[in-house]
Amino acid sequence: MHDEFIPYAQQSISEADQRSVSEAIANTHITRGPLVEKFEQRIADYCGASYAVAFNSGSTALLAACHVAKINRFDRLISTPNTFVATIGSAVQYGATPIFVDLDPHTANLDVTQIANAMEKPHSRGRHIIMPVHFAGVPIDVSAINNSLKDPDSIIIEDAAHALGSCYTDGSRVGCCANSQMTMFSFHPAKTITTGEGGMITTNDKNLYEALQRFRNNGIERTPSNFEEKKNVYSGFYEVQELTNNYNFTEFQAALGLSQMDRLDVFIEKRRKLVAAYRKLLKNVPYITLMSDVGDHRTAYHLFVIQIDYFACKTTREKVILALQMEGIGTQVHYIPVYRHPYFRRTCGDLRSYFPVTEKYYAAALSLPLYYDLGFEQIEMIVKKLLKILKIKK
Ligand SMILES: Cc1ncc(COP(=O)(O)O)c(C=O)c1O
Repeated sequence: MHDEFIPYAQQSISEADQRSVSEAIANTHITRGPLVEKFEQRIADYCGASYAVAFNSGSTALLAACHVAKINRFDRLISTPNTFVATIGSAVQYGATPIFVDLDPHTANLDVTQIANAMEKPHSRGRHIIMPVHFAGVPIDVSAINNSLKDPDSIIIEDAAHALGSCYTDGSRVGCCANSQMTMFSFHPAKTITTGEGGMITTNDKNLYEALQRFRNNGIERTPSNFEEKKNVYSGFYEVQELTNNYNFTEFQAALGLSQMDRLDVFIEKRRKLVAAYRKLLKNVPYITLMSDVGDHRTAYHLFVIQIDYFACKTTREKVILALQMEGIGTQVHYIPVYRHPYFRRTCGDLRSYFPVTEKYYAAALSLPLYYDLGFEQIEMIVKKLLKILKIKK
């Protein structure tokens, strides 16, 4: 194994980040304080949304979104199989039935043109909950999804865990919620900015905003005008209006988030340049397919995925991953289609044959390292080693 292992993803922590966190931890309030509010405001302003609520993870943020959308067992979740389990798991935990939609082979995002089809199935009650994922940071056309909805009760919750800083075709930012009820972000260390663990929901709906705050804090309501009790209200009085849990975000996480936001543009720019460098080196290489570059200029790249014809290279993905690892290079597969996991196989059955595009993509996919501190010379080295392992001559 090499001394300097190149992981597939990694946070970038500056001295300013460290200062920001250590100052926050010396404050009187170290959780649920003004820095959390400031970070929420910063994300809301950046995205162009009215409100933002921070949570202790992106997965919790999705759970919160499902809770306040009142998702229940009559609802149907329309989403992509090419995602992290939390996207699907959040709505399924609230009782929704998952309906997967096959992928657009050029982006590995869900194929927007198939959503209407997925909603055609007859039903007597319940709503459609659409959860598009901006896979790898590539923004999906949410306005097209919104325009395709016939039922006004349908709800769109965007999973933008990968896409802080990405823009739609009209230039507005992912997270502005112009065509959705809520958008979720994750601040896991692999993401474009990090708070260690953390997530956020943006929304333009005041009622959802207040419900999200209640969800985060054990269902507690502190705003007097929202109390059910109208008498006997004193300073510090509060009401538990529903049972949830504690999903709060700390001041020092917010301090890190604020400091990371100062570098978001720099992060995005560098990631875009790294992707461009990979594209240049891998263009027209036999047996390697690159994802579409159509949205490159408006994508805040979280992942760089390539597709490899392992069979033509007389090898397997397992062997390639292992060989790269021995060379000190980390890779990942994004994602094992959600329906392939044992939980979903047990509950939904074997769905592989229904998703030919997803299956083809999954068989070939490999995510190469992509993070801010990665050097261009390291990218050259990664590509060189990869082609050597695959025995491909350029
Ligand atoms: C697409 C997607 N959705 C949801 C999540 C959940 O975010 P978190 O890891 O912050 O809980 C992630 C993060 O891994 C993700 O990649």
